[in-house]
Amino acid sequence: MTETSLHGVKLASTSEEVACRPDQPLLDSLLRNDIWIPNSCNQGTCGTCKVRVLRGQVDHRRAPLDTLSAAERDDGLALACQATPCSDVEIQPVGESGAGGPRHRLQDFAGTVTGLADIAEDTRRLLVSLEKPMEFSAGQYVEITVPRTGAKRQYSMANAPSTPTELEFHIRRVPEGEATDQWIFTTLREGDQIQLSGPYGDFSYGDDDGAPLILVGGGTGLAPLMSILDHVLNLDPDREVHLYQGARTTADLYDADKLRRYAEAFANFHYVPALSMEDWDGRNGHVTDVMLEDFDSCKDYSGYLCGPPIMVEAGIKAFKRRRMAPRRIYREKFTPAAEAAAQPAGLALAAST
Ligand code: FES
Repeated sequence: MTETSLHGVKLASTSEEVACRPDQPLLDSLLRNDIWIPNSCNQGTCGTCKVRVLRGQVDHRRAPLDTLSAAERDDGLALACQATPCSDVEIQPVGESGAGGPRHRLQDFAGTVTGLADIAEDTRRLLVSLEKPMEFSAGQYVEITVPRTGAKRQYSMANAPSTPTELEFHIRRVPEGEATDQWIFTTLREGDQIQLSGPYGDFSYGDDDGAPLILVGGGTGLAPLMSILDHVLNLDPDREVHLYQGARTTADLYDADKLRRYAEAFANFHYVPALSMEDWDGRNGHVTDVMLEDFDSCKDYSGYLCGPPIMVEAGIKAFKRRRMAPRRIYREKFTPAAEAAAQPAGLALAAST
């Protein structure tokens, strides 16, 4: 690169090259230039973005040893979402090609808060109108910048991609959370401006040749599933879709009336809310167990899981027990930002709420 303040990042397989600031992660520079490599959490936790550095030097910054061991660093590997260039570099992803992953240019956006409402215990719906449309795939997320501190928080879109300027987020309050307790649940108001970047992530609707779908969400893990649900029903109102929504109590359950109306309007959409900590006149138990009770076989289905890691792991096991093909199981794990902050650098978020 000719500008001394920038380094070149070259992708060996295609010879495409982009300019990257010394403080900019390699992945960020690629995605902002429409060059896609496998990626998911953008937090250093999943390892999806692992690359081999074929030439040049990188700074691994806060890449956690759990995701990138000392031996891997010595062997020339790096996490593209964490590593920044110290010189011109040439890299090659080590993971799968991810040919089917969502590919939309990563951009910065300014937005105006158009709605803010409590929808369940310690849970808010945030509506944001963007100044320009954001192309994204159903299931992806953005990073919202917390004013004053500049911290980033990840939230999945709950709206379908067909409304690219009107974004919806479901946000769970985190005690003493920098983004929630100290901003979104206290000082944020309608009309306020916010900054965000996106889209991120590889959890997205994959078409699946029209296969029937099973969506399982825990807590605000419902958000990306709502985006997928709206997207799928827009495309194909007759598609067989089963949505399982897990919550602890009725106070935690939200959008149930809306989903029941969907079930009345779409003959092949089935909605099952399940509570794990309160007896009621609906289904009781962990949401993945409730789903298991309803299917003898998931062989020809595609499954989408989003929620706390323990729920997602249980869901993967449940789908496999019912013979769902692993390639048809899509998952997104998240933990609250407070838990992320309590862990060593980069050990937490996949898509936080
Ligand atoms: S995207 Fe880099 S570790 Fe997850």
